[in-house]
Amino acid sequence: MKKTILTGLRPTGNLHLGHLFGAGQNYVKLQNDYEFFLEIADVQALTDNFNDPEKVRKNVYEITTDLLAIGIDPNKVNIFIQSQISEIAELTIFFSNLVTISRLYRNPTVKSEMAQKKELFGNDGESITYGFLGYPVSQAADITIFSGELVPVGDDQLPLLEQCREIVRKFNNIYGNTLIEPQPVLSETTRIKGLDGNDKMGKSLGNAIFLVDDEETITKKVMGAVTDPSKIKKDDPANPDICMVYYYHNLVTPKEELETVCSECKKGTRGCVNCKKQLIKNLNEFLKPIKERRKQYEENPEIVKDILEKGTNIAKKRATENMNKIKEAMKIDY
Ligand code: TRP
Repeated sequence: MKKTILTGLRPTGNLHLGHLFGAGQNYVKLQNDYEFFLEIADVQALTDNFNDPEKVRKNVYEITTDLLAIGIDPNKVNIFIQSQISEIAELTIFFSNLVTISRLYRNPTVKSEMAQKKELFGNDGESITYGFLGYPVSQAADITIFSGELVPVGDDQLPLLEQCREIVRKFNNIYGNTLIEPQPVLSETTRIKGLDGNDKMGKSLGNAIFLVDDEETITKKVMGAVTDPSKIKKDDPANPDICMVYYYHNLVTPKEELETVCSECKKGTRGCVNCKKQLIKNLNEFLKPIKERRKQYEENPEIVKDILEKGTNIAKKRATENMNKIKEAMKIDY
């Protein structure tokens, strides 16, 4: 029997290089050896986008198309829509008795997100909603309703997984051994830096290169990328280790070419403009097969809908089976 993997993505925007290197490539590798459930977490996306349902709906399709474009094989991975699996919402309610409010407030991921969303939740988080504070509980339900054993995530998600494991232990203690305690799977690279040198590439940080960016957009973005500030003239020697252009060369440039980039930069025989042009060319080359595959799905949106429907049906079946066991354990199987 193959082990079960579950992971999720919030449909709030298109995938960028951070998603690809930090997570997507790992999914593509894992899809061959596991039973894989990939959740488009629209209900979770609504916890901080409840006032913009149109955006969430649109991005369910956008993100699914991106996932297919990077090589997620719908015959191997069940891509499904969270809101269509009512068992998740049900289990969230059952779990809510097993979590204290103060434990949720102490969750580091919730804390830092709350701080980023002052506009929505107030300066000290005083207007935080019940739904947003509780999304770790709902995420625990996402994982356990499918008996997910392994959860590929970025390191920012580890506190959520720890909270899930606590809930599972508590559930099993009270109601008997029913749920599986999941383990995280970290990818080799869990985080990609932004064009501005920020530790994280993110849509809201405005420092991301999206898989759907056209050549003109990529050119503009790379031309504005942060380089070694001590390099003033074209032939000043510089330190590639603090240059974002070199950082991205590392991701997409062939090894030999990369060595030249590095040594010429250090010697001062390479100007930043040429170096950027070379990166733009390599980035475009790298993204070309992804964009080609994406185009096929864009032109046939009904295929994307079918894939989601098929994945959601399989997920629903698994969730129903597990919900029966859960209700039995909780003595609510009338
Ligand atoms: N919280 C995750 C993120 O923001 C998305 C997510 C939803 C998820 N449900 C999940 C991740 C279940 C892992 C498992 O990226």
